[in-house]
Amino acid sequence: MLGRISKSSEIISGIPGSGVDHDEIPFSLTEEFVSVYRMHSLLPDNIAFFEAKQGKHQATTPLADLTFQRAQKPLESGISFGDLFYSFGINYPGAITNNNYPNFLRDLHTPDGLHRDMGTVDIVRDRERGVPRYCAFRRMLRMSVPETFEELTGGNKELAEQLSEVYNGDIELVDALVGSHSEPVIPGFGFSETAFRIFIVMASRRLKSDRFIAGQWNAEMYTKEGLHWVQYTTMKDVLTRHFPELEDTLKNSQNAFAPWAMKAESKNYQGIETNAKKI
Ligand code: HEM
Repeated sequence: MLGRISKSSEIISGIPGSGVDHDEIPFSLTEEFVSVYRMHSLLPDNIAFFEAKQGKHQATTPLADLTFQRAQKPLESGISFGDLFYSFGINYPGAITNNNYPNFLRDLHTPDGLHRDMGTVDIVRDRERGVPRYCAFRRMLRMSVPETFEELTGGNKELAEQLSEVYNGDIELVDALVGSHSEPVIPGFGFSETAFRIFIVMASRRLKSDRFIAGQWNAEMYTKEGLHWVQYTTMKDVLTRHFPELEDTLKNSQNAFAPWAMKAESKNYQGIETNAKKI
C-alpha cells in the first residue's frame, strides 16, 4: 500500500524488490518441501466435464482414463479448452486427510511399465530419503509434539486407535505425512499446520532467491507498463482474455483458485465431483 519505503527490509516492505539473498546456499527445493507437497489425496477418482457457456454436463470420466498417453482424450472428443477450464473450476478436489487416497493411484500403471501403490510409495520415499518422522519433524520446526495418539488426532478416538495399532503404540514412529493427515486442521486451512510451516518458509525463500522478484523488480527491467501489468493482472483476467466464454462465470466467482460459481445447468448434476448437495 505504501510502496517500497524500506530499501531492503522485507518485514517492512515485503520481499519484491528487497534484494536477492540466497542465505549462502544455492537455491533448491528442500526434501521436506517435496514431502509436504505429496498431496495425492487432492486427486479425485473421476472428473465431471461440462460445457462452459450453458454449464451442461457432458461426461464423467475416470481419472485413470485421462492420464499419461490418454491425457488428450477429452479434447479429441469435442470438449473445448474453455470447457476444460470451466470443468476444473467447478470440480472439487479431495481433502488432504486420512482414508481419502484416490483408488486409481493405489493401483497405478505408468507408461514406463511400473505398477505402483502410490499410497505406499509416498511413505516409503520419505523413509528412504531420511525425512524425519512426524514428531521429530515438528520438534525441528520448534512446534509442540503430541505425547499420545489421541492428542495427535485432536480427540478423534477411532483414528487414534487405528494409528496406534499400525505403529505398535509408538507415536515417535508416525510418518510425517501420516501425522500431517491426522492432526486437526486450523479453521479455514486446507492442510495441516505442520505442512504450512514448511510452505511458508519455502515460499519466502523462493521469492527471495528470484532475481525477477526480489532483484530487478522495477520499471527498468519490466518497463513501467509491464510492472503495472504484473502487479495488477489477476488469474481471472488471464483466463477471461484467453477464454471469453468464461467471463460470466468468473465475474461471479471471487477467486480463480477457489471453486468457481456454477451455471444453473451444472447444478442439475448430482455427482460427488461438484460437491452437489444431496437431494
Ligand atoms: C494424475 C495425477 C498424478 C499422478 C499419476 C502422479 C503420480 C506420481 C508418481 C508416479 C510419482 C513418483 C513416484 C515414485 O517416487 O516412485 C509422484 C511423485 C510425486 N507427486 Fe504425484 N502424481 C499426480 C499428481 C500429483 C499432485 C496433484 C501432486 C501435488 C499437488 C503431486 C505431488 C507429488 C510429489 C511431491 C511427488 C514426489 C516428487 C519427488 O520425489 O521429487 N502429484 N507422483
